[in-house]
Amino acid sequence: MENRKGKFITFEGPEGSGKSTQIRLLAEYLSSKDYKIELLREPGGTEIGEKVRAILLDVKFDRMSSFCELYLYLAARAQLIEEKIIPFLNEGKVVFCDRFIDATIAYQVCGSGVAPDFVDGFQKFVAAGLTPRLTILLDIDVETGLKRAASSHPQDRLEKKDVIYHQRVREGYLELAKKNPKRIKVVSSLASIEDVQKKIRGLIADVFK
Ligand SMILES: Nc1ncnc2c1ncn2[C@@H]1O[C@H](COP(=O)(O)OP(=O)(O)OP(=O)(O)O)[C@@H](O)[C@H]1O
Ligand SMILES: [Mg+2]
Repeated sequence: MENRKGKFITFEGPEGSGKSTQIRLLAEYLSSKDYKIELLREPGGTEIGEKVRAILLDVKFDRMSSFCELYLYLAARAQLIEEKIIPFLNEGKVVFCDRFIDATIAYQVCGSGVAPDFVDGFQKFVAAGLTPRLTILLDIDVETGLKRAASSHPQDRLEKKDVIYHQRVREGYLELAKKNPKRIKVVSSLASIEDVQKKIRGLIADVFK
């Protein structure tokens, strides 16, 4: 489905790739240009979603099944789509989301080995084909990303998974970018925060002209 009146842009990438940093800088920049930006994050972004997020990230649940994890992510997303994303887009707003559907493919399908069919069904019946207009994929090697994440906050349940898992996630993301070159733009996060931001501003210029 087309993005209705508004613009839907997502930010993806492995742990510690700079999503939160870059999304904030970009939102500040565009707000200064009088754009009204709605910032959302996954899992979360709604009252229900934030509660689901707390379960998903809780290190206590180190034996959570892959399917439990998948359905919790999808549950939070279903609420976010209905309560926030669709109404905002219908009002013509710009919606930035820190992670969305690509994260489920990268983490649950490529990382944990869940069959993609489970995600396809959600896309068809719940998201009704809602697709970001543009996705910025911040790419970083696993070691650097996990180090950066560790320096900024205590490790969450996902970050505690082994390095091989995180490598599958990164490769899953890059594979998605290869398959969707028009929508997903890869930006290396090895450069400085300022240089990465410059690249992103260049990439979104098309959407805001
Ligand atoms: N280009 C960069 N160079 C050096 N440090 C960076 C860069 N981008 C972000 N950082 C730092 O890395 C840490 C993680 O960044 P950030 O929280 O934005 O990543 P994230 O992708 O949102 O992580 P998470 O997956 O944990 O949500 C922060 O301390 C941030 O300041
Ligand atoms: Mg973040």
